[in-house]
Amino acid sequence: MATLIRNGRIVTAVDDYAADILVDDGCIRTIGRELAVGGDAEVHDASGLLVLPGGVDVHTHLDLITPCARSVDTFGSGTKAAAFGGTTTLVDFCTPVAGESPLKGLEDWHRLSESACVDVGAHMILLDANPGTLEDMKTLIRSEGVSSFKLFLAYPGALMVDDGALFKAMRVAGANGAMTCVHAENGPVIQALVQEALDQGLTAPKYHALTRPAILEGEATQRAIRLAELAATPLYIVHLSAAQALSAVTEARDRGIPVHAETCPQYLFLTEEEYARPGFEPAKYVMTPPLRDASHQRELWRGLQTDDLQVVSTDHCPFCFNEQPYGMQFSKQQGIDSFSRIPNGAPGVETRLPLVFDGAVVKHGMSLNRFVEITATAPAKLFGLFPKKGTIAVGSDGDLVLFDPGERWTVRAADHHSRTDYTLFEGRVVTGRVKKVFVRGQCIVDGTNWLGREGMGQYLRRGESGRP
Ligand code: URP
Ligand code: ZN
Ligand code: ZN
Repeated sequence: MATLIRNGRIVTAVDDYAADILVDDGCIRTIGRELAVGGDAEVHDASGLLVLPGGVDVHTHLDLITPCARSVDTFGSGTKAAAFGGTTTLVDFCTPVAGESPLKGLEDWHRLSESACVDVGAHMILLDANPGTLEDMKTLIRSEGVSSFKLFLAYPGALMVDDGALFKAMRVAGANGAMTCVHAENGPVIQALVQEALDQGLTAPKYHALTRPAILEGEATQRAIRLAELAATPLYIVHLSAAQALSAVTEARDRGIPVHAETCPQYLFLTEEEYARPGFEPAKYVMTPPLRDASHQRELWRGLQTDDLQVVSTDHCPFCFNEQPYGMQFSKQQGIDSFSRIPNGAPGVETRLPLVFDGAVVKHGMSLNRFVEITATAPAKLFGLFPKKGTIAVGSDGDLVLFDPGERWTVRAADHHSRTDYTLFEGRVVTGRVKKVFVRGQCIVDGTNWLGREGMGQYLRRGESGRP
C-alpha cells in the first residue's frame, strides 16, 4: 500500500521546504506539491510538523552477552524503543566470543537480531588480529555487508587489543573499504588506578569515574589517530567524552587526516555531579567513558558546531538498576560491593532525537539542517548506508519521522519501551516530540500507539564505510 504524507515541512541536512511525500513499495517515489493519490493510499497530515529522515544510531549494544552480564534489551525491545524515539536505523555492535571466528559471531548476532522492528546493520568487534581474523575481515566486508570494525584500547583481559593488533586490523580495514572504530582509553593505566582504589577499600560507584581520567582518553585517542595515519585507514572514535580527545581529533582533521568522531547525549547533557547522588544510585551512570566535568561539555558543543564531531549516537547498552524482574545478570546490583563489578553502560536509544533537538536546536541555536546531519545523514554516510538511509530523497527508503518542534514533555522511564527500569534523564523537560514514525512507508508509531511488529526490521548490508 502507498503512503502519502501531506503538508509537512521537509528538513534534510541541506533542504528545508514544504511538500508532500509519496512512499510506495518501501521507497520514496515522489516529492511534490499537492500530490494526488488513489483511494487505497494511506494519507497522513503533517501540517505544523517537521518531516525528518528517520534517525540513524550507529552505536548500540542490543542483547550483548558477556561472561558477567547481558544487556537487557533484546533486538525486539531495543528497536521498538528506538522507533518511539524517531530512530529507524541502528548499527549494532556484534561481539564475538573470544577465540571464536567473527563469522561465527555474526551468525549468532543474526539469530538474535531476527526480532528487530527497525532496520539494523552490524559493526564487528575484533578481539584479536590473528591471520584467521584478518581473513574474516575481508569476507565480512566483501560478502556480509559489515564494513566497520571496533577495537578496544580499554578493558585489558577482556576486550582490549594491543597496539600491534590494532595496527594490523587497521591496515586490512583501510585497504578494503572499511572503517576502524576505536574505544580510546588507556586500559592498562586505568587497570592500575582501579587496583590502587580497591587496595584502599574505595569501592563506591564514583570511583569508576575517578579511575578513568580524561587524560587517558586523550592519550589513547591520540595514539589511535597516529596508528590510523600510518595504516591509512579512516578512523572513527566512538563515544568521545573528553576535551583532550576532541583536540586530538580536531588537530588531525585540520591536517586532512580522515578521522571522525561521535559523542553521545549523556556527555552533552550530564556531568560528573551525577556520581554524588546518594547510595548506590550513581551506578546508573556507570558507563565508559564516565561523565566528565562541564568544561568538557562546552568543548563537545563546539565540536558539533564546527564539524570536529560528526555524529551523536547513544551507546545504548542498557542494564536494569534493580535485580528484578530480569535477574542479576541484567542488573547494576552486581556491583553493589565494588564499582569494578558494575556492568558498564546505560540506556538512551529512545531519547536521543528529542534530547538533541532540545539541546542543540532549541538551546544552542543549531540549524535544523545540522541537527538532521548529526543524527541521521552523517552516520548514514560514514557507515555505508547513504542515500538509502539518512535523507529524504526520491529512491531513499520511506523512513520518516513527523516531529512536533514545539511540544514540551517530560522524560519518564515509566513511559519508555526499553526493558530497563530507569533513564539517565528522568524528569527532564524537553521541547520537541516524535509524533509518527514510518519504516519503509509503514507507520509503526502513532503517538503512543505501537503499530509495528517484531521481525519486520531488515538486515542492512552496508557499502564502503569511512568515505563520506
Ligand atoms: O559503558 C559502556 N559504554 N558500555 C558499552 C561498551 C562500550 O565500551 O561501548
Ligand atoms: Zn566502547
Ligand atoms: Zn558502546
